[in-house]
Amino acid sequence: MSLIQSRPSVYDRAIALVVSNLREGTMQLDPGVARLPVELFTSVERAASELTLMRSLPLVIAHHAELPTPGSFVTRELLGQSLIVARRQDGTVGCYLNVCQHRGGQVEAAPFGSKRVFTCPYHGWSYDRDDGALRNVPFDKDFGEIDRACYGLRSVSVEERHGLVWVQLSSTSPLDVGRFLGDEVDERDRIRALRASSLSRLSGR
Ligand code: FES
Repeated sequence: MSLIQSRPSVYDRAIALVVSNLREGTMQLDPGVARLPVELFTSVERAASELTLMRSLPLVIAHHAELPTPGSFVTRELLGQSLIVARRQDGTVGCYLNVCQHRGGQVEAAPFGSKRVFTCPYHGWSYDRDDGALRNVPFDKDFGEIDRACYGLRSVSVEERHGLVWVQLSSTSPLDVGRFLGDEVDERDRIRALRASSLSRLSGR
């Protein structure tokens, strides 16, 4: 059972309808002109609660092909948060808040590239691509005593699945995209992979 299915919500019926339409290839059209209260689009409280909801869910931030090799990274804005997503040396993906732990500067400005460390342009603090740890502080005597273990980039929950990179902003515990999407999506991927390998075996004959 997916996380959405297990969460009681006033939107359950709407979600069930969308899922059923996707499965059947159908669509329900309103017979008349649909009118919605304008507060749905102007309410500050509603916007805040929607942001809270979105931050609590797995969201796609990149396609796996955007991070082809160790060191590849992209920077993204997601729900008002600047993020760095990077391919680690071991092939896994890390995600960090793009916020320097010295005085909050933006660490990486490039939209994409390849790096071993990310260096803040303000005073040169450098952070490791693989774990976000603070690696170098130029002229560190000028900064006084720094416990480097406390000044790494803040990590964001991230998982690579189905060819996409997912993040969950309001949590640092491990993501479970498989549970969120449900078994059906994994099963589809498995069947697609089986078909692809059968086709390649046939074409290799
Ligand atoms: S704000 Fe980043 S090094 Fe000072």
